[in-house]
Amino acid sequence: MSKIFAFSIRKDEEPYLKEWAAAHPDVEVDYTDQLLTPDTAALAKGADGVVVYQQLDYTPETLQALADQGITKMSLRNVGVDNIDMAKAKELGFEITNVPVYSPNAIAEHAVIQTARVLRQAKRMDEKMAHGDLRWAPTIGREVRDQTVGVIGTGHIGRVFMQIMEGFGAKVITYDVRKKPELEEKGYYVDSLDDLYKQADVVSLHIPATKSNYHMIDAEVIAKMKDDAVLVNVSRGPLVDTAAVAKALDDGKLFGFVMDTYEDEVGVFNEDWTDKDFPDPLLKDLIDRPNVLVTPHTAFYTTHAVRNMVVKAFDNNLALVEGQEPDTPVEVG
Ligand SMILES: NC(=O)c1ccc[n+]([C@@H]2O[C@H](COP(=O)([O-])OP(=O)(O)OC[C@H]3O[C@@H](n4cnc5c(N)ncnc54)[C@H](O)[C@@H]3O)[C@@H](O)[C@H]2O)c1
Repeated sequence: MSKIFAFSIRKDEEPYLKEWAAAHPDVEVDYTDQLLTPDTAALAKGADGVVVYQQLDYTPETLQALADQGITKMSLRNVGVDNIDMAKAKELGFEITNVPVYSPNAIAEHAVIQTARVLRQAKRMDEKMAHGDLRWAPTIGREVRDQTVGVIGTGHIGRVFMQIMEGFGAKVITYDVRKKPELEEKGYYVDSLDDLYKQADVVSLHIPATKSNYHMIDAEVIAKMKDDAVLVNVSRGPLVDTAAVAKALDDGKLFGFVMDTYEDEVGVFNEDWTDKDFPDPLLKDLIDRPNVLVTPHTAFYTTHAVRNMVVKAFDNNLALVEGQEPDTPVEVG
């Protein structure tokens, strides 16, 4: 009987792990809520493979601790593999999988909902209501169908975002370094980013962060956007020069900002600061603004997505354990 052991299982993941285990009575499944470290690796003793997900680094020591128990088949429940020491993983003969696509709709829907809320000045209206001010003016909304929505990146998430925006009746224009023929045929692509900035009322980022696009949205680029544009970043924090956005909001250049990913989010997001000193004044300033909607990298966090992350990771791990080709292997090295 094969055995798979899972690390750092959260309460919201548990039902899907149990569902997978019930559907695979021939596989022994065990798990812990603890992170995988050189010390906790021993919890997986006797397992043929492990299922993991953590921000913590997979250090050479951690990988060695697994390998010492004969475990070299590791399946991530998330996308990112940049915290794995790949040289050590290769040396130890690790086979690794990830879950690159778990629910593009989760992220795209969140982006659309938050954009629509900014356009309707929902946060301002909510604050007025909370204080008993039930007057309409001056909190007037903009309709989504009146907006030209500029989508940068037409991959899995960008394309769902486009579809939902079109459902509202918005005009969608796009830019991508690799144009998709089916979208090109329909005339979605503009020729350059500058064209997109010039035309778009909403600019939404759906691309990965790389060295070459660090702070691609800076003061100079914001100046090229339409007055009263809304900027949306549910992709990666480093794409946006956050201080430049704050300045553009002060100047009234931008109408609003949707931010689910922040360049300095590590160590700040997914923590409870209720009774502690808030560590980041710029972030606090953005959270307090009536025309900015900040969420702590939760666009992905839906039941649908979490289920897919768990189930796909276990499916991948079982394939590795049984010597079959997994759906989404990661290149080790
Ligand atoms: N907030 C969240 O919870 C969350 C969750 C998952 C993914 N994401 C982020 O969403 C982003 C998009 O994910 P995806 O699954 O759609 O990716 P994807 O790989 O399917 O699509 C990315 C697209 O961007 C294009 N692209 C890459 N670099 C570009 C550039 N510099 N300019 C223009 N186009 C460029 C690619 O050609 C591709 O079409 C990623 O940054 C990912 O990290 C965020």
